Amino acid sequence: MELSTEAGISERLVKPNCFLNDGAFDWLYPERIQRLSRRHWTPLGVAKASARFLANKPGAKILDIGSGVGKFCLVGGHYFPDAYFYGVEQREELHQIALEARDMTGKFNVEFIHGNFTHLDMDDFDNFYFYNSFFENLDHNDRIDHQIAYSPSLYVYYCKYLFKLLDARPSGTRLVTFHSLGDEIPPAYHLVESSIDTLLKMYIKK
Ligand SMILES: C[S@@+](CC[C@H](N)C(=O)[O-])C[C@H]1O[C@@H](n2cnc3c(N)ncnc32)[C@H](O)[C@@H]1O
Repeated sequence: MELSTEAGISERLVKPNCFLNDGAFDWLYPERIQRLSRRHWTPLGVAKASARFLANKPGAKILDIGSGVGKFCLVGGHYFPDAYFYGVEQREELHQIALEARDMTGKFNVEFIHGNFTHLDMDDFDNFYFYNSFFENLDHNDRIDHQIAYSPSLYVYYCKYLFKLLDARPSGTRLVTFHSLGDEIPPAYHLVESSIDTLLKMYIKK
């Protein structure tokens, strides 16, 4: 029997096994998006460990800055149902794909916002996840698409913008970075955990 969910999606469409591993998760997406997975979307284990650190209190509001097709938020929302995961994504196509994936996973503690992170009010969020979203402005290889303008000056502008936003957050704010060059991290953020390869870093603001 088909049951109606909160969003009116048929239970038959919900894919509960997608959280088993990265391969299973990729099946939520169209083939072109699957091909970008290894390079551009957070691995499941990294997403889970990051979300555990960021979901530090019931009702915590976590923002993924540059959420792509929503993988970090959906994994976080699955394992930490008492927290709220938000993703902001500049590319309309990826935003739409994230919304479709959310419906397929039935994760309604996850919300996706279409737009540039510079238009958000950071007071709406407690903690932040950042998978070096601005690096595409420096890297000429393996780009997601050619729909937007890239430039090294945009990289600098976004890093400075995010640095200021993070610097203005209250003491106790948590930040996780993956593959970051560190340009957007204010000195008030203290490294409390890091992966052995140092690609994944967890910070708390003093
Ligand atoms: C490396 S992907 C990470 C996707 C997602 N966070 C994940 O871990 O699966 C970075 C994403 O950031 C987005 N992005 C880059 N600059 C952005 C900006 N200024 N505002 C919003 N999104 C941005 C890109 O379009 C891309 O989808």
